[in-house]
Amino acid sequence: MVIVHTAEELQNKVKSKKSSLGLVPTMGALHLGHLSLIKRATDENKQVVVSIYVNPTQFNRTEDLENYPTDLTKDIDLLKPFEKKLILYIPAHEELYPDGIKSKKYDFGSLTAYMEGAQRPGHFDGVATIVEALLEKIRPSKAYFGEKDFQQLQVIKALNQHLALGIEIISCPLIREESGLAYSSRNSLLSLEQKSNALVIHQTLEYLNKNAYDWSVAEMELYFKSKVEAIKDFEVDYFSIAEPSNLIPVKQLDSRKAYRMFVAVFVGKTRLIDTVELVRK
Ligand code: PAJ
Repeated sequence: MVIVHTAEELQNKVKSKKSSLGLVPTMGALHLGHLSLIKRATDENKQVVVSIYVNPTQFNRTEDLENYPTDLTKDIDLLKPFEKKLILYIPAHEELYPDGIKSKKYDFGSLTAYMEGAQRPGHFDGVATIVEALLEKIRPSKAYFGEKDFQQLQVIKALNQHLALGIEIISCPLIREESGLAYSSRNSLLSLEQKSNALVIHQTLEYLNKNAYDWSVAEMELYFKSKVEAIKDFEVDYFSIAEPSNLIPVKQLDSRKAYRMFVAVFVGKTRLIDTVELVRK
């Protein structure tokens, strides 16, 4: 595996720079969700940079940053099948934050006003700062992001348009375990019991999806909360339904429009998010 720690080393390893270089930014603790992005990127590009960097500025809770899982040995093992095309980039803080670890300030309008933007102050400034730094340094032709973090994806598309570096942002579908639980690095922080109980999140979203356009959003929220909060230590942080383009939560559904459901749930101290596209009947 080619592993580099600085952008300079990285550029020396890049043979295919302008035409066919993919980038998959991650915070490590890799799982099949990440690997689906990496698979797609290696299918579509001659070379692919996977970055592993736990970005401090996007964590609004110190506890969340301190507990964030890391397992570089396992990550390298999981990347082995893609090794031929990969450059693994593991930067130090000084590499990405030469002037100290702080975020730039951005204005993404309604895209960051609700849901993760509202519940995690400063989170998207941190994400945008690091993604901007990675795009600027690496200059890939395509960068891959997951719909698991749908709000993040929309923010990054807006950021990318503003940067105008000629990079294409590729959105990749959310990958779930067979049980329906969305793969997440934070799942490794759950006890076995919490993990099996966490299936309620996706199951309830799917149930609501069957009846979506017959219910008011308030009724759906109430139902979601009643199912999820019936479990010990489970607390709903938010339940929202929004149009994908502006991410402004709505109260009533218009049958001519497409929407997504977005939820965040505390399972003990671990916070999980999930999202499902509403199916129109
Ligand atoms: P991280 O949570 O490690 O996720 C890296 C990428 O994998 C993101 O684009 C995320 O949406 C995608 N991903 C995670 N779980 C997924 C799943 N179950 N299915 C499909 N894709 C999934 O997101 C971040 O890191 C950071 O915010 C980052 C963009 C790297 C900036 O620090």
